[in-house]
This record gives sequence, C-alpha cells and structure tokens, in this order.
Amino acid sequence: MVEFKVSAPGKVILFGEHAVVYGKTAVAASLALRTNLDFKELPLGTDYISISMPKISLTQQIPLQHIIDFFFGQSSPKSSAGHDEFHKHVQKFVEEIGFISLPQKQALEAFFYLLINISQVESITIKPIHIHLDTALSISSGLGSSASFAVCLATCFYHWSRVQRNVGISLDEAQLREISSYALDCERIMHGTPSGIDNTICTFGSIIEYRKGDLLVPIYGVKIMRVLLVDTRVPRSTKALVESLAQLRSKYPKIFDPVLESIDSVSIEALSIIRRIQELPEAHDELLSEAYNELMTLMKVNQGLLDTCHLSHPSLDAICAEAKNYGLAAKLTGAGGGGYAYILLLPTTPNEVISSLSRKLIANGYLVTLTNLGGSGVEIYS
Ligand code: MEV
Repeated sequence: MVEFKVSAPGKVILFGEHAVVYGKTAVAASLALRTNLDFKELPLGTDYISISMPKISLTQQIPLQHIIDFFFGQSSPKSSAGHDEFHKHVQKFVEEIGFISLPQKQALEAFFYLLINISQVESITIKPIHIHLDTALSISSGLGSSASFAVCLATCFYHWSRVQRNVGISLDEAQLREISSYALDCERIMHGTPSGIDNTICTFGSIIEYRKGDLLVPIYGVKIMRVLLVDTRVPRSTKALVESLAQLRSKYPKIFDPVLESIDSVSIEALSIIRRIQELPEAHDELLSEAYNELMTLMKVNQGLLDTCHLSHPSLDAICAEAKNYGLAAKLTGAGGGGYAYILLLPTTPNEVISSLSRKLIANGYLVTLTNLGGSGVEIYS
C-alpha cells in the first residue's frame, strides 16, 4: 500500500508585493513554518476518498464512484477545456458534496481541481485514499497558507502518478517548475489573477528573485535571516486588495505607474544587498551591519510606497512605528490591508530587545512569531 508525506513552507514577500502583479521584480523567502500532508492508499474494499484538514474543521468521505461519474463521464468537461469551464465544474461538484464555511469550500475546490487535473494530465488511476493536511500557518493572513497547501497537494498527486508508473521523482528544477505550475492553476481559484510568486517560493524555498512569467532565480545558501512575524489579526482579502490597486492605477496611471517602477527598483537594490550578504566572509561585522541598515532603509521605502497605494492599515502603521522605536524596520508582507508585517532582526539584535519588542506588540493585541527565513522548499518523505 502506497504511503508517503509531503511538506511545503509558507512564505513572506520581502519586497515587491502587488508590483509583481504588473511584471515588476519581487523578492520572497520561505518560512520555517510549514504545511504537512500525509497520504495513504486505503485497503481493497474501501469505496471512498477520505480528507481531513483539522485547521478548517474538515473531515469528509466522498464516494469514489461519485467522483468517477462526475469527472470522468462522457459529457464532463476535462481540465484541458480551460480554467474557467473546468473550475465551474469543480464548483458544482463541491456544492453537491457540501461544506459549512468559505475556507472549507475553497479547500475542497482546490483539492478536487488538483486531483482531477493532475490525474487527467499525468494519467493517475484514482483509488481510495486518505489525505490528512495540517499547517502551522494561519489561514488567509498573507503567509502563503493557500499556496503552501496547493503545493503540497500538487506534489502529492504528481508523486502518486509517478509511483503508479514506477518512475522515480527527483524534485529537480524541471519537476519543481511543473509542480509550481499545477499549484498556480489552483491559486487562481483563491485569488483570481495571482502573479505566481506565492506558489513559486512555496515550491522552491530559499529566497527567490521573481518576475511574473519570465524570471525565477533562487538564491541558495543564504545566511540565516531572523524576523519577527507580526499578525495584526485584521482579516483582508488578497483578491479585493489587488483589485483596489488595479482601480487606482487605471484611474491615475501617471501617478501609480511610477510608484510601481520605484518598487521594482527597491526590489532590485534589495537583491544586490542580499547577494552581497551571502558572499561576505565570516566575521565581517561592520560590512554586515552596513548591509542590514541598507535593507532596513529599503523596507521603509517599500512600506511607504505600499501606503501610497492605500495598501497599509493603521495596525500595520503602528507596528512599523514600534519597530522604529527599537531601531528596527517593519514592512507589511503579502496583500496588506491587515494580515502580517515582518520586522527584520539584525544579527546583533540582543534577545532582550526581541523579548521587549515582542511584549509591547503582544500587549497591543498582535500575535508575534520569531522565525528564520530561507529554509527548504517542498519535500517528500517515504
Ligand atoms: C500576495 O501574497 C502577493 C500579491 O502580490 C498578489 C500576487 O502576487 O499574486 C499581493
């Protein structure tokens, strides 16, 4: 009986969110917080697919025959019919099997979109299986929970197709690109017009230089960067925020196009500093702190530009002000409008400072997590 595990990281966008939707450069990093998936084929005689996702209180068993009839019937649209038509068919299926919340609806749509699409493209024989998915990431907050979830599922079905054909999987760059592209199709369910940066960083891990469509350069072997992730606990919708900037830009292109260009320049500048840090020989404390100071300046500039685009929020502004009181810089990460900010910690920031700043933020009602950036991308364990 086939059994394996998959794990994919969450992400932070260090520089360039929103501008990346318009083809500008962005910089993203993987997080040490991950989504984990357990896969097992069920014994002969079982006639359902079982899904459990405790984070969204979802436990469901769906009859296998119903799945086959619905998706593999003569008149069923295939995934090759195009995203919209196929997604509508998946939506109809999920309406039929039922859900009790929006996160459950989105998760079930993502699950069946990927299962059926990958089984049609990669020729999987769908059998009774159990899939358990859990995550250390908070849902819909900007840490890439949906992308990391989609990457886990895409990798799971991609790997299963290979196991069925007795072909090995190496997770080399070509395979990672295929997985990431399956996950991107699925991200379109959640976000409408995603740039692809979230699924890319959750697949590749590390820190990446990214431009929609044409550029993906992983920066491997980066020195550990510590950050405080601060959850404003203000809910927001990525789709709505992306649309709000689209409206501003279409009304005032002469104002907002240069802002997006500036964000592009900030990202390019930041990349050269990150590469410089990577190449610094050990014990070059002065050069290291100079580079971190430059990164902090760029974070503040990027935050200001995002604020100009109406993408900040009073809670994010308050977090930036508190970080500044401690000589540090903060910036929103992801869609903005609430969600998360990150505070970059210097290699020399003392633990007492981290504790004191964290206590202040917690006292103001935020949630704080100390974590590292730049860990591994998607992984499979037998
Ligand atoms: C969301 O994590 C990042 C945005 O730039 C949207 C996208 O890139 O698709 C706001």
